[in-house]
Amino acid sequence: MDVTAGSAVVTGGASGLGLATARRLVEKGVPTVLVDLPTSAGADVAAGLGGGTRFAAADVTDPDAVAAAVAAADELAPLRTLVHCAGRGGAMRVVDKEGRPGSLEFYESIVRVNLIGTFNVLSQAAARMAAHEPVEGERGVCVLTASVAAWEGQIGQLPYASAKAGIVGLTLVAARDLASKLIRVVTIAPGTFDTPILARLPENVRESLGQMVPHPRRLGVPDEFARLALAVVDNPMLNGETIRLDGAIRMQPK
Ligand SMILES: NC(=O)c1ccc[n+]([C@@H]2O[C@H](COP(=O)([O-])OP(=O)(O)OC[C@H]3O[C@@H](n4cnc5c(N)ncnc54)[C@H](O)[C@@H]3O)[C@@H](O)[C@H]2O)c1
Repeated sequence: MDVTAGSAVVTGGASGLGLATARRLVEKGVPTVLVDLPTSAGADVAAGLGGGTRFAAADVTDPDAVAAAVAAADELAPLRTLVHCAGRGGAMRVVDKEGRPGSLEFYESIVRVNLIGTFNVLSQAAARMAAHEPVEGERGVCVLTASVAAWEGQIGQLPYASAKAGIVGLTLVAARDLASKLIRVVTIAPGTFDTPILARLPENVRESLGQMVPHPRRLGVPDEFARLALAVVDNPMLNGETIRLDGAIRMQPK
């Protein structure tokens, strides 16, 4: 699909992989709405990107706020591209240090943001896309974000790995489901990317994380995610698949 055929929504667009994707979209002249938390730098980031980029403050788990965000994109041009990057980690163990069962509340909160949030954003965006006329045989493309933790979750990544595996699991079903509406669904599973998540780590830890990648022996650059997201939109035969973007890394237990 020609990405310039309509507008785009980028969740998590205030930072990291989402911001890099939004930058590429705006450079191509795509009217773009950044969706991120009200506490994020989204408004300033959108102003800095220019091109009429809008910021819609929304928690991706909130149906009304996400509905308003996708409606804002439709006001710019028919919504045709979704790149859903919003997500967060959170460490916990099955049994905590005191021997108590891990917190169900905490587990649920991480699954809620990453997995339930993905369904909320996907369903709201797809409903909008489905209402538009097709362009060259397609109505829209939804790019979701999992993680290599979906297969190789490290100790401590219990809820995050569960949620990301859930996103991998829903990808094919959603693609099959939305095929009749001429909407594709593809998930990208990043390895280790140099985003603000990792910026909090000491330089030597980031360096050693980069050294764990077989080739290229470094952390991923957010723009490399953005380039794949746009390639997914561009290529009509990519559908129902999760693509690892990880320099061949396979995570160890810890
Ligand atoms: N950076 C990596 O190495 C890496 C690896 C694998 C997967 N990922 C995934 O890529 C995605 C983007 O991560 P990133 O590295 O760019 O992180 P980031 O922290 O730089 O960006 C994530 C953005 O999501 C937003 N966000 C978080 N919770 C939200 C919510 N409930 N509603 C709306 N927005 C919310 C944050 O405010 C932030 O702006 C995430 O889903 C993450 O799990 C990242």
